[in-house]
Amino acid sequence: MALLSTAARSYLSHVLTAGNRHDVHSPFVYKLVTEALRQRTPGSEYAAIEDLRRELLQRNDTITVTDHGAGPRRKQGNERRIGSMARSALKPRRQAEQLARIAQHFRPGSVLELGTSLGITTLYLARTLPDARVHTIEGCPATASLAQGHFQQHGGANITLHTGPFRQQLPLVLGLIDRLDLVFIDGHHAAAPTLDYFGQCLAKAHNDSVFIFDDIHWNAEMEQAWAEIQGHPRVSVTVDLYHYGLAFLRKEQQREHFRLRY
Ligand SMILES: C[S@@+](CC[C@H](N)C(=O)[O-])C[C@H]1O[C@@H](n2cnc3c(N)ncnc32)[C@H](O)[C@@H]1O
Repeated sequence: MALLSTAARSYLSHVLTAGNRHDVHSPFVYKLVTEALRQRTPGSEYAAIEDLRRELLQRNDTITVTDHGAGPRRKQGNERRIGSMARSALKPRRQAEQLARIAQHFRPGSVLELGTSLGITTLYLARTLPDARVHTIEGCPATASLAQGHFQQHGGANITLHTGPFRQQLPLVLGLIDRLDLVFIDGHHAAAPTLDYFGQCLAKAHNDSVFIFDDIHWNAEMEQAWAEIQGHPRVSVTVDLYHYGLAFLRKEQQREHFRLRY
């Protein structure tokens, strides 16, 4: 283990210690596991989005990015190759499909994503939930403009993109939404902002709202944010899938925290 990076050690430790459906006694979480998490067949409905990802990976042109978040692990200049962004910033196919299956399981009518980037997960959510309104926020204008083009080309009519820093856009977007059914926080991987965005979203959340936090083990700050979310008085159940952390507010649930390998 000493030769492994901190990230590799953390992942290995999750794989070795996390449970599976046999360790889940909550019917609510068991249903999520059997109906959504255990399904791994690649969905053909996402083929066009994966074609777009492949095109983006090939691109050598650059844009000037505005970074409002924790930034990439390795510091870079503001000039970013679109191909590199597609490689490093976007959820890989397997995780994007897992996100889509979780969304399909809960069938939310209103979705809010913090962190659009080039729009891949937004398109997954919009394609999975054609009757939902998907709001997504991106702080970098150049990145947002590319994403908007992808939404126009790939049938993202149910997507509303809001451009600007989360701290400025989130209160405005929350003002437009009566009830938040599903929130996906995938940007600004630092403790205080993550907890702040979570707190703001709670004001529009209800008993059946689903919160999905990306990369809860990305750094010490995200570990801290995740621990505080798990201990939050309104949160009853959490599911740690390593790449994602799911938090539920259901009052009828016994307080329980699951770590699962899917
Ligand atoms: C990891 S990427 C999102 C990836 C995308 N969800 C996907 O997998 O297809 C995070 C994005 O959040 C944006 N972001 C980070 N912090 C932000 C902030 N404080 N305000 C607005 N946007 C922010 C970044 O510009 C970046 O494009």
